[in-house]
Amino acid sequence: MKQITDFQLIEKQDFGRSVLLRLRTEQLVPAIVPGQFVQVRVDGSPSTYLRRPISIHDVDVMQNEITLLVQQVGEGTRHLAALKVGDMVNMVLPLGNGFTLPEKGEKCLLVGGGIGIAPLYYFAKVLNEKDIRPTLLLGGKSESDLLRLSDYQQLGETFVTTEDGSFGEKGFVTMHSIWQKQSFDKIYVCGPKPMMKAVAKLAAENNVWCEVSLENLMACGLGACLCCVEDTVDGHVCVCKEGPVFNIRRLKW
Ligand SMILES: Cc1cc2nc3c(=O)[nH]c(=O)nc-3n(C[C@H](O)[C@H](O)[C@H](O)COP(=O)(O)OP(=O)(O)OC[C@H]3O[C@@H](n4cnc5c(N)ncnc54)[C@H](O)[C@@H]3O)c2cc1C
Ligand code: FES
Repeated sequence: MKQITDFQLIEKQDFGRSVLLRLRTEQLVPAIVPGQFVQVRVDGSPSTYLRRPISIHDVDVMQNEITLLVQQVGEGTRHLAALKVGDMVNMVLPLGNGFTLPEKGEKCLLVGGGIGIAPLYYFAKVLNEKDIRPTLLLGGKSESDLLRLSDYQQLGETFVTTEDGSFGEKGFVTMHSIWQKQSFDKIYVCGPKPMMKAVAKLAAENNVWCEVSLENLMACGLGACLCCVEDTVDGHVCVCKEGPVFNIRRLKW
């Protein structure tokens, strides 16, 4: 059930270009599937009248809290990063479909690139609650992009690549040696599109089930404006409503 809710910022962690925002509401937080997102209203900025889509990074149902991990790229995200503890934030949630949960005993690889690691934290946490310990492969341009690495490491064996070689193996996630050493039943990916396409290609070549979480530009977030469409084998679909998570077999990549 979607709701429009006011949250209060109760904790903020600064990671330089990115911030972690922990938000609490007085209402009950609805059931949230990992991979779903919120549409955040950006107050106090006339040029950002459209809400901004942000993945749900973590959820604490008992405390009525959700956490977002936001990277500053423009006016809207800069405003969100400038919020102060105590500020109110209005959000529509939960939106989109979310990742398909694996069967018990299946070996899962979660691949995140850049800020695309955001939805994978809550996903890995939910998998742990279901006694499924995922493997994580996180990539960034350099070490400073690897946000909350020690927290991810607690949720599963975690491998890292950086483009400049400052941490983990040097190169892109698709170049990591794990691909030669291990095999997986299910692969889940979120990150920049070229990276997701490269991982999807690897998965398809090896006949491995794979879901990707698309971050197409969005406006309404509700399936009304058609600005987020993706070409699929079933025709053009709205990523905000039918996605953002798609099995790669549906995508015309
Ligand atoms: C389903 C979904 C989940 C997302 N989850 C997160 C998240 O957890 N954390 C996070 O930091 N960001 C996330 N994003 C991206 C985020 O929505 C955009 O960065 C944000 O809307 C940009 O707003 P802005 O006003 O700061 O920048 P704008 O001024 O709107 O844009 C600044 C620049 O960023 C580019 N840009 C805007 N949106 C995107 C995008 N989706 N992909 C690539 N480039 C973009 C624009 O083309 C422009 O060049 C998500 C996007 C989607 C669709
Ligand atoms: S953002 Fe409007 S239809 Fe998807």
